[in-house]
Amino acid sequence: MAVTGSDLHVAKEFLIKGELVAIPTETVYGLAGNALNEKAVLSIFEAKNRPAFDPLIIHTDSIEKAAIYVADIPEKARVLADRFWPGPLTLLLPKKDIVPDLVTSGLDTVAVRIPNHPLTLELLSQLSFPLAAPSANPFGYISPTKPEHVEKQLGDRIPYILDGGECEVGIESTILGFENDETIVYRLGGLDINEIESLIGPVVLMPHSTSDPKAPGMLKSHYAPRKPLHLYRRDEIVPGDAETGYLMFDKYLEGADRKYQRLLSPNRDLKEAAHNLFAYLRELDALPVSEIKAELVPSSGLGLAINDRLQRASVPA
Ligand code: TXA
Ligand code: MG
Repeated sequence: MAVTGSDLHVAKEFLIKGELVAIPTETVYGLAGNALNEKAVLSIFEAKNRPAFDPLIIHTDSIEKAAIYVADIPEKARVLADRFWPGPLTLLLPKKDIVPDLVTSGLDTVAVRIPNHPLTLELLSQLSFPLAAPSANPFGYISPTKPEHVEKQLGDRIPYILDGGECEVGIESTILGFENDETIVYRLGGLDINEIESLIGPVVLMPHSTSDPKAPGMLKSHYAPRKPLHLYRRDEIVPGDAETGYLMFDKYLEGADRKYQRLLSPNRDLKEAAHNLFAYLRELDALPVSEIKAELVPSSGLGLAINDRLQRASVPA
């Protein structure tokens, strides 16, 4: 069973030995291992049941250290890194040979991010290697935003969970890549696309794919609860039978039991909605219901990323 604690020294010792540690970030908890140690990286894929074609993000604590692993940081990438790191931004950059092919699933780009969490930043500053870390959930399931989420699903597979409390942002990082003169959004996430565009000009959204290994981050079915999830606009959602759970945006649904309802943000605050999204989906999944009905949120700013997660959670695996 995993021990949950906030002892950086313990976390560091396990990582140096090539073992896995769950780490807090501002987005979601990560399942971390030494990115330069192939055995450690392999055990990440095994612990998550993750297919080898789905590459990992490497985490570090400074742009200088990131430059050890990437061959080039284009101008637009640098502008974004200066503005948003540490933060929920992942950049796809040309990799150097020092990064194992296992990390990138054989692609010639590597995903890099500096996470914004004080404990994890301190841990990274004490390590001589970057941490490969996917979200700390079994492949395809909802990402963890609290240490107990990790404990429940991966507790028997890892020795230590570094407890950094609840994740502030609550949805994963925004992933951006650069091809020719274009900036491509591979995954919507914790950053507002408008803010990115105001800094570097227009970006292109990459469409989702069912299985295309060239765009592994864009799998259509992902982030899914075990119970079937159905999506509605506010004016379309009606009470189902007694065995239905409801994920609502700001107001309870009349005519349905409140015990089986969760409100993402009574104040219509999309940041708060993102923060609550995965924890509430897990709570509804654990209730004695046979299906979950969810209301789509306003599709601007962070709402785009929230609706993206809801959409992918509603596609059967
Ligand atoms: O917020 C986050 O990004 C969290 C925290 C732990 O940092 N991590 C995370 O990792 O969400 P993961 O593995 O669950 O999602 C990373 C996504 C994957 O879907 C993967 O396919 C994509 O990033 N990805 C990684 N490297 C890539 C590459 N070279 N090209 C295209 N997509 C890549
Ligand atoms: Mg994930």
